[in-house]
Amino acid sequence: MIPKIQKIFQCSPDLDTIIIVKDINDLSKSMLTKAEFSYLKKNHETHSETKIHSFNRFDYHVFIVEVCSKNTDELLFEDMRKAAFKIVQNLKALKIKNVQLSILHYDLQCLQAFLESMVLSSYEFTKYKTEKTPNSLELIFAEHALLQENEVDELNIVCDATYRCRDMVNEPVNYLDAIKISEEFIELAQNAGCSIEVFNKKKIEALKMGGLLAVNSGSKTPPTFTVMEYKPKNAVNKKPLVFVGKGVVYDTGGLNIKTGNSMDGMKCDMAGAAAVATALYAIAKSHIAVWVISVVPATDNRPGENAYTNGDVIRMHNGKTVEVLNTDAEGRLILADALSYVQKFKPQCVIDLATLTGSAVRAIGSVAMVGMNKDAAKEFILLQNCGNKTHERIVEFPLWEDYGAMIKSDIADIKNIGGAEAGAITAGKFLEHFTSYPWIHLDIAGPAFTSSVDSYRGLGGTGWGTRILVEFAKSML
Ligand code: BES
Ligand code: ZN
Ligand code: ZN
Repeated sequence: MIPKIQKIFQCSPDLDTIIIVKDINDLSKSMLTKAEFSYLKKNHETHSETKIHSFNRFDYHVFIVEVCSKNTDELLFEDMRKAAFKIVQNLKALKIKNVQLSILHYDLQCLQAFLESMVLSSYEFTKYKTEKTPNSLELIFAEHALLQENEVDELNIVCDATYRCRDMVNEPVNYLDAIKISEEFIELAQNAGCSIEVFNKKKIEALKMGGLLAVNSGSKTPPTFTVMEYKPKNAVNKKPLVFVGKGVVYDTGGLNIKTGNSMDGMKCDMAGAAAVATALYAIAKSHIAVWVISVVPATDNRPGENAYTNGDVIRMHNGKTVEVLNTDAEGRLILADALSYVQKFKPQCVIDLATLTGSAVRAIGSVAMVGMNKDAAKEFILLQNCGNKTHERIVEFPLWEDYGAMIKSDIADIKNIGGAEAGAITAGKFLEHFTSYPWIHLDIAGPAFTSSVDSYRGLGGTGWGTRILVEFAKSML
């Protein structure tokens, strides 16, 4: 169950309470007993870490969360999220169900970051556990004079969307195949009241999506291609904002099969798809006045009787030919078809999200994503700012033509791999061949999935991408 945030006008006297402070001296006399105060003063030392002091008043607790951050910008929001993760561990240990929260001397945005993280930190993927120990936290009451009801609604919606994104990423392929993921998208669209169309294999063949069909050729499950649309009457944009997500529901590598343990986490290879679908869901549910379309090509990538092979030359949706020289570089093949397909929407800007390359992970690790853009310098900076706010940060890589030379093919227009170097960029250069509008490419291979608990991002699918895309839509208002 997902905890729900509710606005209150005043804290009540006998409920579990969290007070966020910059300094314990900000606490007024009425908040604590004399004994509690002197305890705090005695144990007070100057430090830069977040500290949690908890007082057991028998029928409830008071938690003083001392966030002593030197940060003043968006990094302070991240300190708030990390502090919230810590407090949620305390609440869990005490099986606390309802808690009220107030904040002293920090602004509203800090409170929002803290609240968001309290919900995100409570996430667990328990579907396959026979014995479930369900998360106890149910209601979070927030007290702040400036907090608006619609902001609370938005927080609840974006957290719900992030939960759904994580759920999809955490589902293994023996449940979430290409058909099932399209059904999940239908459920999202119906729930949010937006339109959706799912193309089956026949339609994909008719559209000559050679990339998606090639990657799918080793599979027993047909591919799907989903288009979701949210077009509010009061949209501020005349041309749609289009999101494209890589929907490889499982990546074995194909005939270039992944070895060692490099295949283990590859159910996450549809994290881009989950992000773009759940972002659209959140934008629609929040009634944000922005016209958005999300597109997902989906298939698994595996060896099979008829699997595509190295040396194959395939013709893509836009007519270009590609020489396949590694079946594990499959993401760019299915994305290429989607990117040329969305041309018909005459987009204002297209943003694709993809767990595309190990090269991106080696370059910058799992704390951020790699981003590139063509003719979208302004939008890119806007998006980077959104990423700083949500702490889904973007490191810009170039799309210089020097890298384009690395994917020239001897017998086709281009090949699907470059050399040993600059793999994230050559993948971007490959995609660029299929774009003809302002475009941003985000490689989320590093941050999309984690194999050990990473604060409020959790374990497994982190939900990376949902929040930044919602923030980006809001920034267009
Ligand atoms: N899905 C992988 C990329 C990936 C790696 C995602 C690590 C998440 C974590 C992608 O399809 C892939 O296999 N890329 C290859 C490309 C290479 C063959 C050119 C890679 O990065 O090794
Ligand atoms: Zn691959
Ligand atoms: Zn892949």
